[in-house]
Amino acid sequence: MNPSHGRDLVTAGYGLDRSDLPDYDLERPESGLVDPREWFDAPDHPFEIEIGAGKGTFLVQQAMRRPEVNYLGIEWARAYYRYAADRVRRRELHNVRVLHADATEFIRHRCPDAVARVIHLYFSDPWPKKRHHKRRVLQSSTLDDFHRVLVADGELRLVTDHDDLWAWYEELAATHDHLFRRAPFAARDSASGGELVGTNYERKFKREGRPLNAMTLIRTGRESG
Ligand SMILES: C[S@@+](CC[C@H](N)C(=O)[O-])C[C@H]1O[C@@H](n2cnc3c(N)ncnc32)[C@H](O)[C@@H]1O
Repeated sequence: MNPSHGRDLVTAGYGLDRSDLPDYDLERPESGLVDPREWFDAPDHPFEIEIGAGKGTFLVQQAMRRPEVNYLGIEWARAYYRYAADRVRRRELHNVRVLHADATEFIRHRCPDAVARVIHLYFSDPWPKKRHHKRRVLQSSTLDDFHRVLVADGELRLVTDHDDLWAWYEELAATHDHLFRRAPFAARDSASGGELVGTNYERKFKREGRPLNAMTLIRTGRESG
């Protein structure tokens, strides 16, 4: 996996990794908390997270059209993280940061309550074998975490090409209807020509003629904590 094709990648100023996070003391879990909104030039602007940003296509397209919104892309594959952060730096997108981390861990252990207006999860790895289902990003436990870090009426946006993962999403949405209200998915600003979001995977799957499914889960229900 070498998306850079030998080109020098520079992440400085736009990429962050674990060494940029405060130490995490198991005895004092709050010691590891960090407010990601503070990583931006305008920390008071609305804040959105993309989980599994891949090569950063959504981040770049969306952030160029919405300069008044701050976007954090989280990607755990180092080569893609570096590629995405370099892309953002070359365009000098001051409203984007890319974090090299496991997004589910970051959100669970590092993120304060009620910070994000939207969490984007597009074409997440489907892990089709039953014994691997526990590796899927969306779980009952991550839905609880997303509920905690989203602001009131915040949104979790989901798109997939994978039928079994879609059924998994539908079931989780149904069993968590006390936390989220399901709504249709409106195409993002990043999308062009009939796309939903315009990520690399969406473009690949559209070329292959695969049908896609999408939903929005709107945060509702009891307050966290
Ligand atoms: C199938 S790709 C989709 C990439 C992009 N969203 C798109 O639609 O083109 C899934 C991406 O999510 C990343 N990923 C999977 N689980 C992750 C996690 N827990 N934290 C951060 N990145 C993750 C993978 O490394 C991969 O780049």
